[in-house]
Amino acid sequence: MQYHPDKPIIAGNWKMNGLRGSKIEIEKLVNFLGNNNQNSNVIIFPPYTLISDFVNIAVSSDLFIGSQDCHQVNRGAYTGSISPEMIKDLGCNFVILGHSEVRNTKDESSILISKKAEATHKNNLTSIICVGEDAKSRMQGKQLDYVSNQLLKSIPTSANINNTVIAYEPIWAIGTGKSAHLEDIEIMHKHIISFLNDSKIFDNNPPNVIYGGSVNADNSRDILSIDNVNGALVGGASLDSDEFIKIIQSI
Ligand code: 13P
Repeated sequence: MQYHPDKPIIAGNWKMNGLRGSKIEIEKLVNFLGNNNQNSNVIIFPPYTLISDFVNIAVSSDLFIGSQDCHQVNRGAYTGSISPEMIKDLGCNFVILGHSEVRNTKDESSILISKKAEATHKNNLTSIICVGEDAKSRMQGKQLDYVSNQLLKSIPTSANINNTVIAYEPIWAIGTGKSAHLEDIEIMHKHIISFLNDSKIFDNNPPNVIYGGSVNADNSRDILSIDNVNGALVGGASLDSDEFIKIIQSI
């Protein structure tokens, strides 16, 4: 199965949640996708410990499995790290990079994220590069510059519409139950698309730009119908397959 950049993306980031018993959620999801025509790319990002189990369940289905992060080199003395080659070897197609929870806890720079993205591209993986301002920048009205700066430094020249997706996740909207206002999402996505269009990398052919931050089954239809919002990166609401399926159906 291949990623279709012409279709929207509904992705579930499980973060540090899920035990082996959570397989049942993936079985339900695979079953749903098998019985319904897909007008979107559906991806689940489990913790590393469950990737292999989930890939086995999702094999020959319409569900992609991805990794929540990876190292910037393929092998070596990097205790505790997982490489893009290993992720590809497990059967993943996607990797999330630069999630604010990683940028902040590991003090990760945009330059490092760009290196990681380049490494994923070399391994035929599609990277979902996350950007998004913190509450302070939003309060100061500096959110557009903040995100432009992240985009400028986080995207390598190897990026194209097939191997790259941008996720706009305002930090203050993550895990709070309060998504950004629809108008603010619209303004930011328009800004990101015009930034990507201006950048030589994508040559006026920008990749999918998806929104994340307290997306759930109640607000997904409104969010997904905003101009230039090509999908959603869902955290908490992706853990329950019934709710996640409702989000898939809202596109
Ligand atoms: P929530 O949907 O739980 O706010 O998380 C969003 C997110 O960080 C997805 O990567």
